[in-house]
Amino acid sequence: MIGVETLDEFVIRKQTEFPYARGDLSRLLRDIGLAAKIVNREVNKAGLVDILGSTGKTNVQGEEVKKLDVFANRRFIAALELGGQCRGVASEENKDFITFRDGVSKDADYVVALDPLDGSSNIDVNVSVGTIFSIYRRVTPSEGPVTAEDFLQKGRNQAAAGYIIYGSSTMLVYTTGYGVNGFTLDPSIGEFCLSHPDMKIPKTGKTYSVNQGNFLSFPEGVKQFIRHCKEIDKATDRPYSLRYIGSMVADIHRNLITGGIFLYPATTDAPNGKLRLLYECNPMSFIVEQAGGRATDGSRHIQDIEPRELHQRTPIFIGSELLVLKLEEFLREGAGS
Ligand code: AHG
Ligand code: MN
Ligand code: MN
Repeated sequence: MIGVETLDEFVIRKQTEFPYARGDLSRLLRDIGLAAKIVNREVNKAGLVDILGSTGKTNVQGEEVKKLDVFANRRFIAALELGGQCRGVASEENKDFITFRDGVSKDADYVVALDPLDGSSNIDVNVSVGTIFSIYRRVTPSEGPVTAEDFLQKGRNQAAAGYIIYGSSTMLVYTTGYGVNGFTLDPSIGEFCLSHPDMKIPKTGKTYSVNQGNFLSFPEGVKQFIRHCKEIDKATDRPYSLRYIGSMVADIHRNLITGGIFLYPATTDAPNGKLRLLYECNPMSFIVEQAGGRATDGSRHIQDIEPRELHQRTPIFIGSELLVLKLEEFLREGAGS
């Protein structure tokens, strides 16, 4: 382990680079790291303990709630409440936001938007899932309770964003606006260790990630882009590769490393797209753009979209800059047709 830097050590070292930092965000990031380790333990035991399958309930999104959704939601909310740096949480699994009223959090400056378990449909089939978090400084007076206004901030205002991917290894990737760093959990010491410093997404790539089953209901420009991906590229004598895991975190994490584009367009069933602005699209966009990529809804940067409600959805095209720009070009042409 000599020479390996843990998440806690990294966060503290980075904090010293900001003389005015009081360490609150550092402590909040470490609280999230703790919850991630606890959820990771259950994800790794899924199949051996009664954590698989559905709760038989549906959430505010009308989606089936899996037991691990509930477990992860409870663990992250508890870690945030007990950590004392967070004043409230807006979670995919809760219709309204939660305010922490007790003494520990009474002066906390931050609020968190959370997708406690991303890719729920993959839990029971042992495919990578994740957690996504987005951190804002609250904008309402600190002596009062948080309000919706504290959560309905543009993605540009995020103080930090990150995800955990529970895959062949468990990684935590985050940004505070000064680059993207990835940490891999070393189970032998129970610490996230810096493994991917200063992550940068390749400017282009040959991978596209989309649920092609929705093809017929995609906007014309998206159909044209997908047809373009399937053509033989003269330079490589090959078409693009379609890679789609069905967990946003896993698909975007792969493309962050190899280059590629992830698309979740508007469809007939989901005219505003399926993915949620506050706790999926904004945090993933902050990370990918900090790594040199691009994330838009086809015309606007995701992080410039004005949120109107907690569970607001948006189409999203995110990944290597040149691929997203190419997609946008097809959308403009398609709009004309
Ligand atoms: P969640 O499990 O948090 O609801 O998120 C699932 C999302 C996202 O992870 C993934 O990219 C997308 O749903 C897949 O949707 P389709 O199955 O419609 O392709
Ligand atoms: Mn999700
Ligand atoms: Mn989820």
